[in-house]
Amino acid sequence: MKQSTLLLSVLLTLTACQKETTTDLDPSQQHTWWKEAVIYQIYPRSYADSDGDGVGDLRGIIQHLDYIQSLGVDVVWLNPIFPSPNDDNGYDVSDYTAIMSDFGTMQDFDELLAGMHQRGIRLILDLVVNHSSDEHPWFQESRKSRNNPYRDYYHWWPAEKGIPPHRHSDMDPDLSAWRYDSLTNAYYLHYFSRKQPDLNWENPRMRQDFYKGMRFWLDKGIDGYRIDVASYCSKDTLFPEIDFTRYKSFGDYYCHGPHVHDYLQEMYREVFGKYDCMTVGEGNPWINTLDFTDARRKEFNMFYVNANDVVPKQMPDGSPLVTSDVKMQALRSFYTSQDSLLHDAGWPTVILGNHDLPRMQSYWGDDSTPELARLSSQALITFLMTMRGTVFFYGGDEIGMNNVRFEHIEDYNDIVTRSYYANILSTKGAAAAAEYLEQQKREGRDNARTPMQWSSDPQAGFTTGSTTWLKVNPNYPQVNVAAEEADSLSVLQYFRKACALRHTYKPTLVYGEYSLVDAHNPTVFSYLRTGNDERILVAINFSASPAVVDATLLKDASPCVLLDNYLDNQGLQVSEGKLSLRPWQAQVILL
Ligand code: NOJ
Repeated sequence: MKQSTLLLSVLLTLTACQKETTTDLDPSQQHTWWKEAVIYQIYPRSYADSDGDGVGDLRGIIQHLDYIQSLGVDVVWLNPIFPSPNDDNGYDVSDYTAIMSDFGTMQDFDELLAGMHQRGIRLILDLVVNHSSDEHPWFQESRKSRNNPYRDYYHWWPAEKGIPPHRHSDMDPDLSAWRYDSLTNAYYLHYFSRKQPDLNWENPRMRQDFYKGMRFWLDKGIDGYRIDVASYCSKDTLFPEIDFTRYKSFGDYYCHGPHVHDYLQEMYREVFGKYDCMTVGEGNPWINTLDFTDARRKEFNMFYVNANDVVPKQMPDGSPLVTSDVKMQALRSFYTSQDSLLHDAGWPTVILGNHDLPRMQSYWGDDSTPELARLSSQALITFLMTMRGTVFFYGGDEIGMNNVRFEHIEDYNDIVTRSYYANILSTKGAAAAAEYLEQQKREGRDNARTPMQWSSDPQAGFTTGSTTWLKVNPNYPQVNVAAEEADSLSVLQYFRKACALRHTYKPTLVYGEYSLVDAHNPTVFSYLRTGNDERILVAINFSASPAVVDATLLKDASPCVLLDNYLDNQGLQVSEGKLSLRPWQAQVILL
């Protein structure tokens, strides 16, 4: 079916159930485009390769703009596209105002931006504020001498003071965030890899130089930024020993620098406040996101938080195989508390997958059979599209891509996996390293970075070349865009319906109130969204077994099913005050 015909049929299906909606909402809820947006994240290295070198590029994305438009998404977020030695795949920037040669040219970028805007899609870029690459000219200067004008663009600890107090890096084989540089007999700080020295935000000259780069892209017409580890930029430059009775972890400590809000407010005054742009800071679930997003504070519009971090790492019996019901309970409680924290000010984000996480289907859903894989992906999409907050959706999840589960360390590209593996192998031996590889099959970041699966052609249609920078998931002959375009039951077709539903019922699904239903149900996540004159009930079974959920709300209503991932028209199965759901069934019901 052609994409335009498909969209029309989706809309017709939706209007069949439509009741009168209103856009006359409480003005205090301040409607804006970025609250209503479904954001589609593209990992440019893995999206589409136009020149056959095995690495995705901007022209590859340009070739797929009609596809992106057909999804119904509003904003595209691109992971970093700036020049970089790629120690951490672009999160180590060596020039903030140019395009990485692997990805193309500035002309390609301009064409991409224009192509998106012509299609009514906005574009946000990923800005790395905490660190640069060690190959950035600022760092090259900084390390030359202790009195170089760029010395204070970074954090240095003179070796004559002794070994600096420990700071942790996930990306260093020694797990230390200090690296000794004999050139000036000093250590520099790198919270991430040793090729990602931390910028010194205490230095006003550095900050002003940084803002120039930020304005460069906004002046070109981009629509905002995702700001990488935004809350890490402020440090106590005395670098004291960390008081872990006050902080849960290094990440927690790194988020609470003494001037973090001063710098972000200055960033707003100097940059964001001058444009109609959206800003989403990346951070951890243990910080108070309201402090960063309350509009009166003029920092960010939103804060991007991965719920995976709140899931228990093991079951009560010590098993690392955490079951989907346990994950759902953590998810439910995280999003419920986020909703109340950000109820009167600030604005929530809704996320289940990205380039730092395993694939959402494998982590939150169930990919043990093709049927469960499809249903669980659809169930997760239902959650994302019906929750209060701005939706962030990771490219490839709309076709139900799942974890690749590499067997060998050589298959991995990710610096986190490689660094930890090297550390474990040298400190704990081969058996512990093998166990770590098993854990990476479940949680490693490369699971979500394999090339996009476009078709059953060689290399999944991602490239015309014979190799790819990261191996393609071998399930591509079954799971790919072309196959799903032709299958009315597919995850892709469901994604388009769910996305259209969110837009159609925007007053309720975006802005309406959220309240839990059957709050302690062990496997069903159910909630009510209430708009001015409409109520929508969502019930999602997070398990491979049938389940029931309280159906009191259905009693005196004339319910209409707006969305169901079982397409056999069985409708609502209610008996004795309970709604029955089949494995991974998701229903969205207009009351
Ligand atoms: C968060 C990014 O999402 C991740 O990919 C990166 O490795 C770190 N920040 C460091 O920039």
